[in-house]
Amino acid sequence: MSPRRPSADTVGTADAAGIAVTAPAPGASQRLHLSASGVSAVLDVTDGRCPALVHWGAELGALGAAGLDALVAASIEPVPHNAVDVPLRVGIIPQQSDGWIGRQGLTGSRPDGTGWSPRLVTHEITLDGHPLTAAHTETGAALVRFDLADAELGLAVVLEVELLPTGLLRQRASLTNTATTAYTLEELTVTVPVPGDAEELLDFAGRWGKERTPQRRQFTVGTHLRENRRGRTGPDAAHLLHAGRPGFGFRRGEVWAVHTAFSGNHRHVAEQISTGTRVLGGGELLLPGELVLDPGEEYVGPWLHGSYGDGLDAVASRFHRHLRSRAHHVDTARPVTLNVWEAVYFDHDLARLTELADRAAALGVERFVLDDGWFGSRRDDTSGLGDWVVSADVWPDGLGPLVDHVTGHGMEFGLWFEPEMVNEDSDVARAHPEWIMAPSPDRMPLPSRHQQVLNLSIPEAFAHVLGQMSALLEEYEIGYLKWDHNRDLLEAATRGTGRAAVHAQTLAAYALMDALKAAHPGLEIESCSSGGARVDLGVLERTDRVWVSDCIDPLERQQMNRWTAQLIPLELMGSHIASGASHATGRLHTLDFRAATALFGHLGIEWDLTQASEEELASLQRWIELYRARRELLFTGDLVRADRGDSPLWLHGVVSPQRERALFTLAAVGRSDRSQHDRLRFPGLDPEATYRILPLPSRARTSSLVPPRWMQLAEQAAADGGALVPGTVLTRSGLAAPLLDPEQALLFDITRVGIS
Ligand code: DGJ
Repeated sequence: MSPRRPSADTVGTADAAGIAVTAPAPGASQRLHLSASGVSAVLDVTDGRCPALVHWGAELGALGAAGLDALVAASIEPVPHNAVDVPLRVGIIPQQSDGWIGRQGLTGSRPDGTGWSPRLVTHEITLDGHPLTAAHTETGAALVRFDLADAELGLAVVLEVELLPTGLLRQRASLTNTATTAYTLEELTVTVPVPGDAEELLDFAGRWGKERTPQRRQFTVGTHLRENRRGRTGPDAAHLLHAGRPGFGFRRGEVWAVHTAFSGNHRHVAEQISTGTRVLGGGELLLPGELVLDPGEEYVGPWLHGSYGDGLDAVASRFHRHLRSRAHHVDTARPVTLNVWEAVYFDHDLARLTELADRAAALGVERFVLDDGWFGSRRDDTSGLGDWVVSADVWPDGLGPLVDHVTGHGMEFGLWFEPEMVNEDSDVARAHPEWIMAPSPDRMPLPSRHQQVLNLSIPEAFAHVLGQMSALLEEYEIGYLKWDHNRDLLEAATRGTGRAAVHAQTLAAYALMDALKAAHPGLEIESCSSGGARVDLGVLERTDRVWVSDCIDPLERQQMNRWTAQLIPLELMGSHIASGASHATGRLHTLDFRAATALFGHLGIEWDLTQASEEELASLQRWIELYRARRELLFTGDLVRADRGDSPLWLHGVVSPQRERALFTLAAVGRSDRSQHDRLRFPGLDPEATYRILPLPSRARTSSLVPPRWMQLAEQAAADGGALVPGTVLTRSGLAAPLLDPEQALLFDITRVGIS
């Protein structure tokens, strides 16, 4: 359904930009109603104060001027005892000057200690670049810019609020110091309001090898503050911070969520003050003294994305559609990738790698990625990092022979880098110790994986890395970079000055990616960081996939992939089939479970294929063929996840936009203490339609003596594409669940045959 654009005549006349306006009453406030894709955002600037979102959530339809006024009036709360004498009104940038006693959106100070409590006043509003003078405005997706200032304190703020066509609401604030003394910025956080019955919070934690583990809690009075000081997004990043009606699930319950699009230090916050007023917010986390604005200088904060929907799938879907709508988004033919890391680690040998390439090509692999270990003195992780020159010891004839071999097979060649890092035992660290981030010239941060951070905010260091990387990209036919980042930025300061530089480092890393992409159109970059520690929409503005985790154990990946996809669509999620014994956990899994798990993502292989049996290779080839046949559906369809309580049988799938095709998987992530499972209800399908359902041939173990009747019928009807089942049965009453043994998975192909 296309987004409904409130009609102009409900409010006034349409100006040249197609915006509905009425003449403003003198001294009146301004109200804007934006709506797109089932979401309304109503902004109110009463008496020129900091803009407030008086509604963000379900679409309200055309309200007209009177309706907008009524909505704003309805949002004004009574004044309780022992509070400020005017109704509390929390702006997008919460301020004490508006009566807010929670966390301040903008904090900072002048050298004399003043300037910490601004009262920002709106003096100009533009809508999609057009000055806005109307008192009431209703329109579809649009970008609203508010120019605010506290003239007395010498602070000017630009607040951008944009409702995107997907219904995603994004906001960011920037600050300019307009006074004559320096201003030390401590925090610039933007917020969205959530209603009082959003009583439950969901965000994420995790660690290396187990990223994005969900955690739920009650949304009580106080602050749930997720601060990240790792200098990278982190394996334990909040990822998305949701607030919703108690018990919200994938398909049920209103949910509001925010995501801070930044790869350096950042925060997410859920706050409820004693009045019961609740906000979600986010922004960059600045270290002490990190951001000192000289007169005239500007700081631009990251976007805070807000997604609203009925259930977590709806929230995720807005992010997916947004990412898919980008001009540079990858196409659906995501190439099957072979990454050599778990196959050879640092043991680079041309003969072994060409054999691996031969095996890969024979299976239908389309991209071959050479991982860590090809450069400088990097024979293990203690040395050579930062020297982006091909090792003459290991590669006496350069990378040419391998690149030619790979491309000769029709595969693309990809190469690993870790551009922001150095080993102290490296040529670059020896030549330029001042480029290493350190709190003082005499003290280094504790090493992590034997490495330190190269300060890319130093122009010469930036130019050096750019130069070395560019030389390789020019010399060899490289279509893909795996961009790693393997340590936290502890005590990350510019060595000579001791000033914190995580902010500058993050922007410099972005600039390096941008420069390489600009010079090499079509170059893809994978965002990797000790596995999945850099997954955010800031880095994804200039990268093309993320590596979800160094743990490829499919049981763990069922959970990690499921929640990584809360933010990003499957085509951006690196998902590999590894060897039978997981290198991260030691668990053993069948190839079918590994492959069925990896299929719902950008498929790759990370396994020493020279050790695989003929039977395994034949099976792998069939899985690759299946992926190639289904990738268009996987990467254009809607991700749907079934709510199944605490059942160990997880059901998720992808349904095509017109709901005529779907691919589902049922994965057993544990054993039940009941002998039967709840029926399978397939979300996202059309209840009005009739479908054929076909379980794909499988060797998955079950513990039933007789399988569910419908599965027998479907298998008997395989030649016709499976058993006919009404959409209402698939979506509402459900199909009896097979008794899958743990760590087994089934796939179901579903095709619409008619509409009843
Ligand atoms: C961490 C990554 O996550 C791995 O995939 C691999 O590239 C190693 N680094 C290489 O050092």
